Amino acid sequence: MEMSTKSLLKEVDEYLLPLPSYPPFIVKGQGMEVEDQEGNVYLDFMSGPGVLNTGNCHPEITKAVQEQVGKLTQCPGNTHNIESINLARKLAEITPGDLQKTFFCNSGAEAVEGAVKVAKKYASCKGKPGTGMVALEHSFHGRLSLSLSLTGMSGRKKGLGNFIHPASHHIMAPYCYRCALKYPACDLYCAQSLEDFFLSHLPADCVAAVIMEPLMGVAGAIVPPDGYHKRIREICDKHEILLIFDEVFAGFGRTGKMFASEHFGVVPDIMTMAKSLGAGFPLGGVITSPKVGSVIEVGDNYTTYGWNNVVGLTAGLKNIEVIEKENLVKNAKTMGDYFLDKLKESVEICPFLGEARGLGLFLGVEVVKDKKSRTPDPDMAKKIKSGLMGKGHLVGVTGNYSCVMRITPPLILTKDHIDRFIRDWNTTLESVK
Ligand SMILES: Cc1ncc(COP(=O)(O)O)c(C=O)c1O
Repeated sequence: MEMSTKSLLKEVDEYLLPLPSYPPFIVKGQGMEVEDQEGNVYLDFMSGPGVLNTGNCHPEITKAVQEQVGKLTQCPGNTHNIESINLARKLAEITPGDLQKTFFCNSGAEAVEGAVKVAKKYASCKGKPGTGMVALEHSFHGRLSLSLSLTGMSGRKKGLGNFIHPASHHIMAPYCYRCALKYPACDLYCAQSLEDFFLSHLPADCVAAVIMEPLMGVAGAIVPPDGYHKRIREICDKHEILLIFDEVFAGFGRTGKMFASEHFGVVPDIMTMAKSLGAGFPLGGVITSPKVGSVIEVGDNYTTYGWNNVVGLTAGLKNIEVIEKENLVKNAKTMGDYFLDKLKESVEICPFLGEARGLGLFLGVEVVKDKKSRTPDPDMAKKIKSGLMGKGHLVGVTGNYSCVMRITPPLILTKDHIDRFIRDWNTTLESVK
């Protein structure tokens, strides 16, 4: 079969339901590099869909997976396996505070739905009269029914009918760059608006949990201001509401800490994980404190490919071991600081870049019509992305306004990769003017 981009695109049309995917067609990957079917090589500054913190096809992970596939792929229903215990024990060790008990599933959206289920059960067991959920505007939590209803991006719900779950609510996001109020004079109005929500929309005793990403990823690498997480935690504690941190995208070293929440000194009651948890193999997880997890009974949570997914679980354990052995959390911090400084230098001189921000190797750059109006410029963002692709760098465009360049490379990134990227970034900015 001919492998030209044109013929492959024809087959995409013929056999796949529409996806937000575009050429190149990637056929190989190793470390930071991927290769398309025509032999063009790119540096992957997205880590696949944000999952390859240890890079593509890491040799140790590949070996562990190959051995596991040759040994056991699934256990008979309702029997136990060792792989789930090994990974769960490791997760208890590396997650903050008293998070200890894990439920495994297949994806980020499933992890979110599993976390919400725990929170709702906990609220019911505590005798709360309601089990509503509060999420943030601009947030992303997945595309299943409940996780989509919690997602604060209406573009993802367009044409899908009424995707507003009656128990899912939203409060304003800590999106300082696009906020009319200025920090710190605002006194964290966005966090405080949770109290207003209880007054205007749903009494606090009818809320089971607040769910938020400690760093808002798909929204455009939005880092909440100092004190935000603590204020949310205080309000939740005051009203006996659980706090869920969705670490699906930000976890496993991406932000320069093993989990993003560690930057803010706040421990959630429940945490969700996926993406890099499985190092490219489908795997999600919900981890809770023993106290919160104690409400879950046999049968509350079960999925065919969860705890039984021994291949994914093996990849997950080896992935964490590699992150630790290769000091990738520290590398994400060092390289991320260097990268962000370079991006900030470009924002200083480029009239259509508004802000560079992020933590570790979770970076975003706002593309705007001009610095004063801050009007989003999605067309320019698209041009930058394709200009970079032409120079061999793959980046994303994200956010509710589709105007934030998303730069989330594998944590194995080197200074040389960054210097090459910045050289081409600067010439791309010149050429798209
Ligand atoms: C924070 C967050 N939660 C949940 C999800 C959904 O994960 P999945 O696509 O694996 O369902 C994503 C995906 O980008 C995410 O970034």
